[in-house]
Amino acid sequence: MRAIGFTSNGGPEVLEVIDAPEPAPGPGQVLIRVAYAGVNFAEIQHRRGEFGEPDGHGGYDIPGLEVSGTVVALGPGAHGPAVGERVAAYLPAFGGYAELAVAEAEFVRTVGELPLAQAAGVPCVYPTAYGVLTDAGRLRAGETVLVHAAAGGVGSAAARIARALGAGLVLGTVRSPGKAEAAQTLGYDAVFARDGFTEAVLEHTAGRGADLVLDPVGGAVRRASLNVLAPFGRVVVYGDLARDPDWTADAWDLWKNNRAVVGYNIGDVARRSPASIGAHLASALSALASGALAHEPPAVVPPAGIAGLHRRFEAGATRGKSVLDIGELATA
Ligand SMILES: NC(=O)c1ccc[n+]([C@@H]2O[C@H](COP(=O)([O-])OP(=O)(O)OC[C@H]3O[C@@H](n4cnc5c(N)ncnc54)[C@H](OP(=O)(O)O)[C@@H]3O)[C@@H](O)[C@H]2O)c1
Repeated sequence: MRAIGFTSNGGPEVLEVIDAPEPAPGPGQVLIRVAYAGVNFAEIQHRRGEFGEPDGHGGYDIPGLEVSGTVVALGPGAHGPAVGERVAAYLPAFGGYAELAVAEAEFVRTVGELPLAQAAGVPCVYPTAYGVLTDAGRLRAGETVLVHAAAGGVGSAAARIARALGAGLVLGTVRSPGKAEAAQTLGYDAVFARDGFTEAVLEHTAGRGADLVLDPVGGAVRRASLNVLAPFGRVVVYGDLARDPDWTADAWDLWKNNRAVVGYNIGDVARRSPASIGAHLASALSALASGALAHEPPAVVPPAGIAGLHRRFEAGATRGKSVLDIGELATA
């Protein structure tokens, strides 16, 4: 089969089309002919080497955390989807940028009437968005939610889900005023530039602050987010784009100000609470298909465009969700 992979860590130029052996489904696994692969920031981290050097058979790694496609075979004891069914799957061990991918059956769900291009951007993004809002963030109806990296895949999904779950006010931040304007239609009451966001949040909440902040950025943004929490507010930490791993919360600050910092990591959830991922994935797919959850179509990128797309991710120049058209790999 054809796939996009890399044999050494580095910039987007290390991504190349490779011929790889066809995978076979093991016990409890499902073999999927991939139609589209969602593209996530984690794949930039994977390519750069933040998850280690390529260690796949053949000396390459194939990135890709989420796919949509058609079931072609089931491994021994795999229950759930049937051969021929159109599905979406979360792949915690990567492998999505390929014509065939193997997924654990517990992370595979039928897409129903949802178009496959749309479904490819759901299996990692939506369980994460539900997870940060509900499992970690404990969102309650009427609360104010602030989403950093608001224009991104997880950010824009979280904004719409927050609204569907009854949030009172949904605010977002992005890197520049121009991008804020472009992100306004993604489901927010207001989006503003991250510089000086605390003043904007206080202005929109009559000085009360946010009940829940979703923060994949970190650094100065994380510190400022704590200072803009309403009483019993929560900052959910689910990334560290600013690369400030030495930051630690101050127990006295949390105690004296009724604040909380909560972590969320889908990889850990996949290992220790896998059923919740399947449940969130099923909810998202059915809510998107029925129209209960608003969405906009993803940007569909051909295989030849993957390096350029990774560059745009690194420059913060993407908006909403992008998916890779794996069907075109045969001719790439
Ligand atoms: N913990 C988990 O389980 C989990 C699961 C999925 C994703 N994530 C994390 O969630 C975040 C969003 O993922 P995504 O795939 O949806 O990506 P994305 O939000 O579509 O793209 C990344 C966005 O991050 C912002 N950003 C801020 N600082 C940045 C920096 N130094 N370099 C590059 N971008 C920066 C940019 O938007 P601005 O214009 O706003 O700066 C950029 O558009 C990532 O940090 C990812 O690792 C975590």
